[in-house]
Amino acid sequence: MKKTKIVVIGVGAVGSTTAYTLLLRHRMDELVLIDANVDKAIGDALDMNHGMPFIGRTTVWAGSYKDCENADIIIITAGSAQKPGESRVELLKRNIGIYESIIGEVLKYNNDGILLIATNPVDIMSYFSWKKSGWPVERIIGSGTLLDSARFRYLIGQNLNIDPRSVHAHIVGEHGDSEVPLWSLANVAGSEIELAENTKEYIFTNTRDAAYQIINTKGSTYYAIALALDRICTAILRDEGAVLNISTLLTDYHGISDVYLGVPSIVDRSGVREVLQLDFTIEEKELLQQSANKMKELIKSIES
Ligand code: 2OP
Repeated sequence: MKKTKIVVIGVGAVGSTTAYTLLLRHRMDELVLIDANVDKAIGDALDMNHGMPFIGRTTVWAGSYKDCENADIIIITAGSAQKPGESRVELLKRNIGIYESIIGEVLKYNNDGILLIATNPVDIMSYFSWKKSGWPVERIIGSGTLLDSARFRYLIGQNLNIDPRSVHAHIVGEHGDSEVPLWSLANVAGSEIELAENTKEYIFTNTRDAAYQIINTKGSTYYAIALALDRICTAILRDEGAVLNISTLLTDYHGISDVYLGVPSIVDRSGVREVLQLDFTIEEKELLQQSANKMKELIKSIES
């Protein structure tokens, strides 16, 4: 039987926490860690291997791009941090440069896996990865607004004293400042969520700004994104057909095309099997359009 293999490229806080999460949950037979800082990947692999007597089963090693061969999923979290005085667009151009070389290397060894993109701004990085790879769009997936939707469900659940797993609610659009809450579709057991407007405002603001809150306290976020990436990997490996708010290419989605954004989509072994065309209110549509416009502007500024 073919072994299940996941490669994590970039083992900073997000990459290593994701690798560890996948390991603890026995998601694959083989786990490969790749980083420009080879020592970090070697150290992480050693550290994880020393835990095998406690959890068993997985083979973990620090690898090279050749190890992307036969990988089912390649998760990319690599990216560089902003330098003093550097603009967001300059940083973005630099990260796209890094991605071009990473994807070029991956393509030498793998042509039928799934690329799972987590580097920010994730919608833009996913779009460029799709363009650069030439792979079918269903096999290039961004983590999108899955984490934002989890934050949203958590906060709604806290407010209603309901398990967040029983709260069905979606954040769509950019993973970032222009994201959109779909209050019209939010429900518990099929019943609309009735909350005061100021409570809704509080919940959404704290969802949207959650990353800033965490970055202000400890510098970066990594636990919840690791669980979100684990969720996507599981949906793929188990051929689940799970509805997840991942970032994917929109084609005539409420009139929006040629941009990657987070929207509810069915994820299975093929990657993104289907983007769900849900009923949005006019206001939600307008906000999604604004989010798309923002992403398109950014794409244009990088291409120019
Ligand atoms: C987050 O939302 C920063 O994208 C990261 O936690």
